[in-house]
Amino acid sequence: MISAHRYFNGPAESIDWRQEAEFFAAIRLQNRTYKKTAPGRLGQLDSLLVGLVAQRGWTEPAVLDVGVSSGITTRELLDALRQAGIKPAVTATDLALNGEIVDLGLGVRALLDSRGHPLQFEWCGVGLRAWNRRLDLLTGYRLLTAHWRRLVARAPRTGRQHVKLVSRQAATAADAIAFIEDDLSVRNPALLGRFNVIRAANILNRLYFGADQLRAMIANLAAYAKGPGTLIAVLRTHDDGTNHGTVYQLAQDGKFVPIERIGAGSEIDDLV
Ligand SMILES: C[S@@+](CC[C@H](N)C(=O)[O-])C[C@H]1O[C@@H](n2cnc3c(N)ncnc32)[C@H](O)[C@@H]1O
Repeated sequence: MISAHRYFNGPAESIDWRQEAEFFAAIRLQNRTYKKTAPGRLGQLDSLLVGLVAQRGWTEPAVLDVGVSSGITTRELLDALRQAGIKPAVTATDLALNGEIVDLGLGVRALLDSRGHPLQFEWCGVGLRAWNRRLDLLTGYRLLTAHWRRLVARAPRTGRQHVKLVSRQAATAADAIAFIEDDLSVRNPALLGRFNVIRAANILNRLYFGADQLRAMIANLAAYAKGPGTLIAVLRTHDDGTNHGTVYQLAQDGKFVPIERIGAGSEIDDLV
């Protein structure tokens, strides 16, 4: 796997989308969710949202994309809206957007999130996952990562490289997308009542969160909506690449009314 040091410091044109997707997919956060994403996976939803926005005559909608990972699919939504002549103001949030690369000596580096949790290790130029599998007990990799974690805890705070954990491609649209580190389970006053369109793709998954956590996150999405009429899309991509989701419209009474479905619909329809 490509190391964080090479990903963020190498020439952008030397990194292909497969390397980029592999890099983000191998990042597991402390809450055991992955920053997995890939270009093109949400195209079906992009087209649906563009149609709905156009139907409503919104020319400059405020769009919120949550749990964006590298932001590559946010960039695609931005491009799809622009191609339809729409000029959106896009905000993209994720639990882990601010990272730092720390040199631990002897050819070892670590990529950390803003809380100091390791997201990737690098050894002799090769990127390695920072989380453990059961088999790692047998191979000794668990011992090695435990040692590197101790080095991280002792590493000086100075001389670290700060990086935005965002796709190099998506970063080229930085003027059009505001990337904000944000925990969707905690209400953020800066986002209240602002958005015409909200997308939560591959984050509100039952595999990741319990019903109470999901309910709190859904309530936060409702709080970030501009008001009645706001479109809220919730979708999950299955392992076979098929998408299943629902687009809801916020009603006067604050209820989410389903107006469109993709595949079998959202797996959290009942909670919404
Ligand atoms: C599987 S990725 C989905 C990326 C993108 N939306 C897509 O569909 O390609 C899930 C993202 O949710 C983020 N995430 C996990 N827990 C979160 C939380 N509590 N608040 C905000 N983002 C979170 C992870 O960092 C990860 O980038």
